[in-house]
Amino acid sequence: MGMREIFKDLVDAGGTGGLNWHMHAFRSHKRWHPTVTHIENFLLRCQPRHAHLLLMGCSAGWMMPTEWLTQFTHIAAYDIDPLAQHLFNWRHGAALRKSHTQITHYRLDAIVHLPEILAQHPQASIWFDNILGQHRYRIRDEVRVEKELRGLKTTLQGRDWGSVHDLLSGPTLETHSLDSRIQNVRQNAYPKDMEATYSQTLVQSLQAQGVWFDHLTSHVFADDTPTTLIPWEFKPHYWHWLQAGWQTPR
Ligand SMILES: C[S@@+](CC[C@H](N)C(=O)[O-])C[C@H]1O[C@@H](n2cnc3c(N)ncnc32)[C@H](O)[C@@H]1O
Repeated sequence: MGMREIFKDLVDAGGTGGLNWHMHAFRSHKRWHPTVTHIENFLLRCQPRHAHLLLMGCSAGWMMPTEWLTQFTHIAAYDIDPLAQHLFNWRHGAALRKSHTQITHYRLDAIVHLPEILAQHPQASIWFDNILGQHRYRIRDEVRVEKELRGLKTTLQGRDWGSVHDLLSGPTLETHSLDSRIQNVRQNAYPKDMEATYSQTLVQSLQAQGVWFDHLTSHVFADDTPTTLIPWEFKPHYWHWLQAGWQTPR
């Protein structure tokens, strides 16, 4: 890899992470707080079956509750971003040492290598930490992206796994003032068929503007998997709609 590629990788890590993302996350700490709390509440309700976790797209764990991580004895963390492991350890390392949680970092494409990773860790729960909605940014072919995302549940069949990922994102008129209204909207799981209606209502309540981006993740979960929608003010006047779910083996 030449100097130019190394520099590009540090700055944008394949267009989905890197220095740009870390700077934005660091500066957005306060604005993201309600979303981080939603994710924390969601995760604390999930009861992973295994003491070993595969953490896909760990980044620095900017939006991850440390407390949830400390329940595991082993975490294998995957990210393509060269900065992820250092920043993750800076943010969560001390607590993980205290809880005797062993963490191993891998710089790897967790979607491409998913079958091998699963085979290497047959007794592990899996958490996709806001990476699946990024697949579309990395692979520009929409048909392929949708097919691969839809097919994940087959690859993961029999496994204990969950994900939080972008469903939709786009510009809005509304900003901070909506926080309290939105927090009351959808804390609990809803049947899948109500989700489209909810999503639409929430998007309307934000006074969505212009064209919203579909992350092609709406079939990641099976239709009967309960999921939670979580609003995320990614930047002022630009919101993401996250979907979180946990699938226990059938
Ligand atoms: C939105 S950030 C994740 C945020 C992270 N969960 C946090 O709390 O900070 C997405 C992360 O996923 C990583 N990523 C995207 N696609 C990936 C892939 N196919 N395999 C591994 N990591 C990936 C990016 O490098 C980035 O660090």
